[in-house]
Amino acid sequence: MTHKKIKLTESVSGKEKEIELPVLESTAGADIIDIRPIHAELGYFTFDPGFVSTASCESKITYIDGGRGLLKYRGYPIEQLAEQSNFAEVCYLLFYGDLPDRRQLDEFNQSLVRHSHLDEDTMAALLNCFGRERHPMAMLMAAVSHLAALYHDETAVHDPQYRERAAHRLIAKMATITAWLLCHRNGRPLRQRNPALSYTEGFLQMAFGKFDGKASLRKTFVDAMDLILILHADHEQNASTSTVRLSGSTETNPYAALVAGIASLWGPAHGGANEAVIRMLEDIVESGESLEYYIDRARDKNDHFRLMGFGHRVYKNYDPRAKIIRQTCHNLLSELDVGGDNQPLLETARRLETIALEDDYFISRKLYPNVDFYSGIILNTMGLPRDMFTVIFALARTIGWISHWNEMMADKHTRIGRPRQLYTGRCERAFTPIDER
Ligand code: SDX
Repeated sequence: MTHKKIKLTESVSGKEKEIELPVLESTAGADIIDIRPIHAELGYFTFDPGFVSTASCESKITYIDGGRGLLKYRGYPIEQLAEQSNFAEVCYLLFYGDLPDRRQLDEFNQSLVRHSHLDEDTMAALLNCFGRERHPMAMLMAAVSHLAALYHDETAVHDPQYRERAAHRLIAKMATITAWLLCHRNGRPLRQRNPALSYTEGFLQMAFGKFDGKASLRKTFVDAMDLILILHADHEQNASTSTVRLSGSTETNPYAALVAGIASLWGPAHGGANEAVIRMLEDIVESGESLEYYIDRARDKNDHFRLMGFGHRVYKNYDPRAKIIRQTCHNLLSELDVGGDNQPLLETARRLETIALEDDYFISRKLYPNVDFYSGIILNTMGLPRDMFTVIFALARTIGWISHWNEMMADKHTRIGRPRQLYTGRCERAFTPIDER
């Protein structure tokens, strides 16, 4: 609580009633007006479609400053974690709140290896219910629903040890499931994780099999994937994390709550944007139309077309993740010797980025390339099918989802989420039998 107060005055036919609202102090960013007394004292609800200016919870996990382009996991700047850490260590940090020492990280990695196992026959049977070309996000939801059935214990969500075990299971098994979705698509056998490899390298080997390229390129691929996972690990109360919190607030099991989060992430306005970026670039190349034509369409209010991979609800400065991943994207393209004029899709991306960053419509609305603009290009260059991009995003965001779920379930003040509404429907109607209508 701060010493600050906000006064709210209701004025009806000259009669005034004033209440004082407490202000809750943030350790970073805007302080928060506690609006809970409004309904009790004045009988009003507040209205904020899309939750543009509403805090849904208290959290200590991630902080974003959209105006300054800052992103911090448990207080550590994303730039330092991207440069000096790895995804498994970042998972430990996000869940437990502090960076691990060598023993803690070794134990954590050993637990992830143990929990990475899934039964090949069972998962093959489940995936075979879907055609190979079906969207893997639907299969991911089915596979995590299978975990919800395996590990359902409705009495356990208040047990810290159950929550910790659920987190380790999900971080570990999401890598196995993601890899097996790719094997299912390509008709390759399902392999268990190689315990001698790191989390990310073990994931890539399950997904692609033994890497037969040169060692330097293998390291480039592992580093690029590890960076994508770190940058997508968490992002405050984004749509899918808010979905997991709302689902989890009903005390459903965490696996079921994550299925809801995966469904939310699938949308092209959210996690589906990286797939939508490549489809947009393909459409632009195939159409033969100029980039200016598409920029004009993006500006046109009557045209549903938007530039995928541009804009962000919070970042009204450059997405710091985009700055970091942009360099990796260009390094990968030059190492693989792609992206020149003979690669129209990648050349189009480069030119689109340049034009949008100079166009007044985008500058005035602070619409910069976001992390999905570049991650889509990297994953495309690594040879992943387009519809697997959001599955990779879900693999990364699992740690964010389960860390927020755990934080919420550990908070004794947590209540079931139940928003109110502005009702503008009809009120006084009497039922009439069908023959009288
Ligand atoms: C992610 O929340 C998170 O943290 C998400 C995420 C995470 O890590 O979890 O960061 C991941 O979802 C990144 C965003 C990926 N989505 C896309 O790239 C899809 C394209 N972007 C847009 O759909 C849009 O920018 C959103 C959804 C990202 C943000 O939408 P907002 O905050 O509701 O913004 P808005 O619709 O209010 O736009 C403000 C203005 C509008 O124009 P005006 O009405 O002011 O004239 O900007 C325009 C919009 O029309 N605009 C765009 C645009 N995005 C916004 N115009 C053209 N192209 C775009 N991409």
